[in-house]
Amino acid sequence: MQITQLNLSDEIIDLGVGQPDPSLLPLAVLSQAAKHRLTQPDASLLQYGMEQGNEYFRRSLAQFLSDGYGVPVDPDRLFITTGATSGLDLVCARFTNPGDTVFVEEPTYFLALRLFADRRLNVVGLPIDENGLVAEALEEKLAEIRPAFLYTVPTFHNPSGVTLSASRREHLVRLSEQHGFYVVADEVYHMLAYTAVPPPPMVSYDASGTVISLGSFSKILAPGLRLGWIQTAPDPIRRMTRSGLLLSGGGMNPFTSTIVQSAVELGLQREHLKRLIGIYRQRASDLEAALNEMLSASTTYIPPGGGFFYWLRLPQDLDTAALRDTAKRKGVNFQPGVNFSAGGELHNFMRLSFVYYDSDRLREGVRRLAAVIS
Ligand SMILES: Cc1ncc(COP(=O)(O)O)c(C=O)c1O
Repeated sequence: MQITQLNLSDEIIDLGVGQPDPSLLPLAVLSQAAKHRLTQPDASLLQYGMEQGNEYFRRSLAQFLSDGYGVPVDPDRLFITTGATSGLDLVCARFTNPGDTVFVEEPTYFLALRLFADRRLNVVGLPIDENGLVAEALEEKLAEIRPAFLYTVPTFHNPSGVTLSASRREHLVRLSEQHGFYVVADEVYHMLAYTAVPPPPMVSYDASGTVISLGSFSKILAPGLRLGWIQTAPDPIRRMTRSGLLLSGGGMNPFTSTIVQSAVELGLQREHLKRLIGIYRQRASDLEAALNEMLSASTTYIPPGGGFFYWLRLPQDLDTAALRDTAKRKGVNFQPGVNFSAGGELHNFMRLSFVYYDSDRLREGVRRLAAVIS
């Protein structure tokens, strides 16, 4: 019987998995939060919810985000979603038509590409470097075509791990104002900083309402909650709350929202995040040590400073998709680079994640990978 999205075997160390280690899923936290909430004489969490999301929850969330981001967050500029994915899909539904163009980073989050294909959008990839999306390349492309939006993962990028510099954040937002397109910033890794301090989230650079930021509890609490938020200006929020989806179904996930509200208000979310950061920082460091020891002759990478991933560059003539069968036979797996490419390229890259396995398994995974590559 399969219950979760992935059914991993013990024989293969799957370094491609971008999901949290099951032992880090916070059952006790949610149990305490649910008890706190469900023993209160208030059944409103079982009613259809306000379209934008329960106002009490938005206030608590705004406080939590203000602390985490280090910049003030206005609860009226938050819209509750069932995760970053649903936020992105809703943005596609409300702000694009089939055949429109969206710009993405090359590489980009591979499942966003699937979502854009579902919505029949035309996708154009733009290069990144160690400071994130290359703003000059965006500027050049804008001379040819105006996209409905630019989709970016500005902080601890999936898959490359890089973070968009402050000056480029500024530049991107100015371009979106000048050319009239939205910047959809997927910022799900922002608070998972281990050795780097990222610039403030994209909304901080926005003066005219062109930034739509996606956030989520999936990476900082638990993916199964299906709970996230959009932070943006009043006008995009109005466009989303007036969709048939919200008008018919009411606000997203009011039940889970109020339980997570307790987790936030009781300080449990903050404590859990602190714990995750400590564990992930250690795992990232151990994975990096293993890469330096066993794979430095054949791979290079930019240290990520936070998030979930290492993005390895291998020799130009190596095709990581073709390598995968051999790798699995040797008991290791990864995500091949081509999956993250809008144009079917990046054959000599692979993505590794350090959040599913403990340090010993990560090291063993790298040992197997080194044997496959050599
Ligand atoms: C960049 C990015 N966006 C969105 C998601 C999915 O987020 P959610 O679970 O909130 O839908 C992921 C998960 O891997 C991700 O890496």
